Amino acid sequence: MNRSSIPLDRLRLDPLTIWDKTWFLLTAGNFESGQFNTMTVSWGSLGTLWNKPMAQVFVRPTRHTYEFMESADNFTLSAFSEKHRDALRLLGTRSGRDGDKVAETGLRPSPCSQVSSPGFEEAELVLECRKIYWQDLDPQHFLDPSIEGEYPKKDYHRVYLGEILAAFGVEKYLRR
Ligand SMILES: Cc1cc2nc3c(=O)[nH]c(=O)nc-3n(C[C@H](O)[C@H](O)[C@H](O)COP(=O)(O)O)c2cc1C
Repeated sequence: MNRSSIPLDRLRLDPLTIWDKTWFLLTAGNFESGQFNTMTVSWGSLGTLWNKPMAQVFVRPTRHTYEFMESADNFTLSAFSEKHRDALRLLGTRSGRDGDKVAETGLRPSPCSQVSSPGFEEAELVLECRKIYWQDLDPQHFLDPSIEGEYPKKDYHRVYLGEILAAFGVEKYLRR
C-alpha cells in the first residue's frame, strides 16, 4: 500500500465512523520475532491527553491480544478499505490462540518505523502508539445501567492509552 508519513496535525478522519464503521486492527507484540497478535476493534477514541496525541483502546482480558498488550510497551492501529472487511470480520471472531488467523486472511504484517508491533501491508492507515497508561473499567462507575448489559461474563475491559508517535496513511487521510 502506498502510505506516506502524515503529520498528526494534518491527519484527516471522522472520529466516530473510523471506529464504528471502518474498524481497526489492534496489534501488539514484536514483528521481528513474530510474537504478536491482532484483533478487530471498534470501541476506542482518538484525541489529546496530557498534551499528547492519544489513542484509547478497550480490551477484554479474555482476548489473546490482551496478553500481548500487557507484555508489549506499544501497539498499532491499522485501518483498511472495504475490500478487507471479511478479513477484519475473521480477525474479530477467531482467536489467535486457536491458530494462525492472520495467515488465513492473507493480510501481510509489516514493520513499523518507531514501534516493535507490526502494521499491515494492506492497511490504508497505521497509527504507531507507545503505551503510557492503563486502567480497568470499574462497573461501580457505570451511570447508565444499560452498560452492564455489555458484560454478561463480567469481563470488564482494560483501557489502554497510547501516545501516537507516528501515522502513515494513504492520500485520503492527509489534510492538504
Ligand atoms: C467489529 C468488531 C469490533 C470489536 N471490538 C472489540 C473491542 O473494541 N474490544 C475487544 O476487547 N474486543 C473487540 N472485538 C472482539 C475481538 O476482536 C474478538 O474477540 C477477537 O476474536 C479476539 O481475538 P484474540 O483472542 O486473537 O485476541 C470486536 C470484534 C468485532 C468483529
